[in-house]
Amino acid sequence: MKRIAILALLAVAPLLTAAMWMDRQPSPRPYQAPVLSPPVDSVPVSGKELLGQGSELTNPLPATPAALERGLTLFEINCAMCHGISSAERGPVGKKLVPPPPGLGQEFLKNIDDAQIFKAISLGFGRMPPFRDKLTPTERWELVDFLRTRK
Ligand code: HEC
Repeated sequence: MKRIAILALLAVAPLLTAAMWMDRQPSPRPYQAPVLSPPVDSVPVSGKELLGQGSELTNPLPATPAALERGLTLFEINCAMCHGISSAERGPVGKKLVPPPPGLGQEFLKNIDDAQIFKAISLGFGRMPPFRDKLTPTERWELVDFLRTRK
């Protein structure tokens, strides 16, 4: 009888020790979906767009007449109300801002590379709103190309 009791105790001993650590395990809350890791090489279809760092972000879009034309249209729709149709005068919204936004003339843009302009448009810059959810990457590069020719 005593042997059986000892055997039974030995049999359940691992279970008892396991119980000691039961609270230390990943435990999703009720109704919470378990976090599954994505398969290797899968492509995200939701969430934020990742922007390359510094030099790996290069302008892929040659400044063709068609690209510049679209850049002009995009600028008039999205940017001119603040930065102005021409760099000489700010737009109606820009005039209300104190201090006003930069005119983005060639003298100003000389010190800013394409990647920096692309990032400013994508992520926003100071009081300027981000445009990455409103403009496709191609449209943003068209704006960059256009800004290089804007008077
Ligand atoms: C609501 C007004 C507003 C709109 C719209 C706006 N900007 Fe701006 N932008 C600003 C302000 C203000 C600054 C300067 C940052 C500051 O002073 O907070 C700025 C700065 C910039 C800069 C300079 C970034 C740097 O590195 O110095 C660039 C380039 C630029 N804007 C491009 C654009 C383009 C292209 C668009 C259209 C897609 C646009 N902005 C739309 C207000 C605006």
